[in-house]
Amino acid sequence: MERDVTAALAALEAHRVEVGHHRIADLFDADPDRFGKFQARLGDLLFDYSKHRITEATLAHLLTLARAAKLEERRDALFAGEKVNLTENRPALHMALRNFSGRPIMVDGRDVTGDVTAEREKMFAFARGIREGVIRGARGGAFTDVVNIGIGGSDLGPAMAARALSPFAQPGLRTHFVANVDGADLADTLAPLDLSTTLFIISSKTFSTQETMTNAASARALVAAALGEDAIGDHFCAVSTKLDLVAKFGIQSDRVFGFWDWVGGRYSLWSSIGLALAISIGPKHFEDFLRGGHEVDEHFRTAPLQENIPVLMGLLGVWYRNVWGLGAHAVIPYDQRLARFPAYLQQLDMESNGKSVRRGGGLVTMATAPVIWGEPGTNGQHAFFQMLHQGTDIVPIDFLLAAEPVAADARHHELLFSNCLAQAEGLMRGRSRHEVDAILKKQGLSADAAAALAPHKVFAGDRPSSLLLYRRLDPRMLGRLVALYEHKVFVQAAIWDINPFDQWGVELGKELASRLGPIVSDDQASTQGLDGSTAGLIEYRRSLRGA
Ligand code: F6P
Repeated sequence: MERDVTAALAALEAHRVEVGHHRIADLFDADPDRFGKFQARLGDLLFDYSKHRITEATLAHLLTLARAAKLEERRDALFAGEKVNLTENRPALHMALRNFSGRPIMVDGRDVTGDVTAEREKMFAFARGIREGVIRGARGGAFTDVVNIGIGGSDLGPAMAARALSPFAQPGLRTHFVANVDGADLADTLAPLDLSTTLFIISSKTFSTQETMTNAASARALVAAALGEDAIGDHFCAVSTKLDLVAKFGIQSDRVFGFWDWVGGRYSLWSSIGLALAISIGPKHFEDFLRGGHEVDEHFRTAPLQENIPVLMGLLGVWYRNVWGLGAHAVIPYDQRLARFPAYLQQLDMESNGKSVRRGGGLVTMATAPVIWGEPGTNGQHAFFQMLHQGTDIVPIDFLLAAEPVAADARHHELLFSNCLAQAEGLMRGRSRHEVDAILKKQGLSADAAAALAPHKVFAGDRPSSLLLYRRLDPRMLGRLVALYEHKVFVQAAIWDINPFDQWGVELGKELASRLGPIVSDDQASTQGLDGSTAGLIEYRRSLRGA
């Protein structure tokens, strides 16, 4: 297998030289059907990848690479519940949380679909109770605010989705998300809230994450102080796989929603970790969200590789990362409510594929996860797009765009839509010196002034982008988008031969923070044994606080 992957990559390297001779704009001119050829659909979702530095031969080479890496076999193993998360000896079966196929999903020889449905129904019943005001606070008031306390996958998913689907939220029931151990996060979130009508969800797969446990303890103390210790049972619920630890925190067992160790943290939005979202948008919309994810699972599982959107997204990423050597990838939603989607993807992509060791333990021989970043358009246009257009680095982009707005002005949306297409076009076509000269001449600039200004107005172009165009950002569409990126990440992990489902890289920082904690807390504690910088910084802090 390894030899085949190396050969496929070498063929892609050679092919790149040839593609490098063609401008994307020229490829469009040469083939009037380019847009038709380089697109894939899933229902009304269109994935346009025609504005890339690719030809049909490129695709053929990339598919050869996918086959050499045994992508289809890996995908099938994933869906079959094999223990693909090798270092943690477990399967990765987030697809079981959105499985409407009627097919069993086996974990250790047992079908887990019944457990999944039962836990989901329990969550939905609770969500309904909150929404309908049947479940109330200790003082008898219906809940008006829900605060999810969690971090990483126990925060980013529900926070991103609640914002994306805010038009579907129940009026008068607001959701908030507290993640950072910085007390400002909790303090600023709670400042405007009435604790007597606030429900806290402690979301933590392990129920031991320092940030979450610290915020949870502080929130608990605040509620106890404001409403009395007896109010805790009414104002707290939890989502975790560690039911024993939750019980110790004092949360009633009928308010604990479980999930399973075969659901990775960054894939857990589909599980009870979505409780805040389910309360906000209601069970029906939450189920639509799950169904959107399921549609993508079926597509990923069955569509031929050349029509398979997550496969194409993953392979295009590999083309730029490994063959062109590009280290960043931007995701720019022209959809304000997807403002947190890039942050969500940062965890999904970089925590999954930010690895240097192969599944078997050897070092990787090619670059893995690029830096994923992004902000919504049009705001980004007035911030970092200058660099995207004229900077020295090329950053491939995914644009996300709806055909129609949800609960927003149609005229605004037309402008938004035009801006997105204009940026993608401008990045691809650029503007040549010849065109600039003609424009400046027409503007009446003197020859000298035009010659001085012209180089600054030239755009190299050939800056690639994909565009995901969907009807509207509703729960089903959001489910599709999230699942597409989940599987894209999986595709790249398969090519790079890494395990996307563990996250050992997060551990070192956690370990060191707990070592430094007591030294920071105690001004008398010795800093001996620490490196000079760390010791110096702690001592400088002491001096500032002393002063
Ligand atoms: O940051 C590492 C991590 O383990 C993530 O993978 C996870 O989503 C996050 O911490 C939160 O973990 P937990 O849900 O166990 O609190």
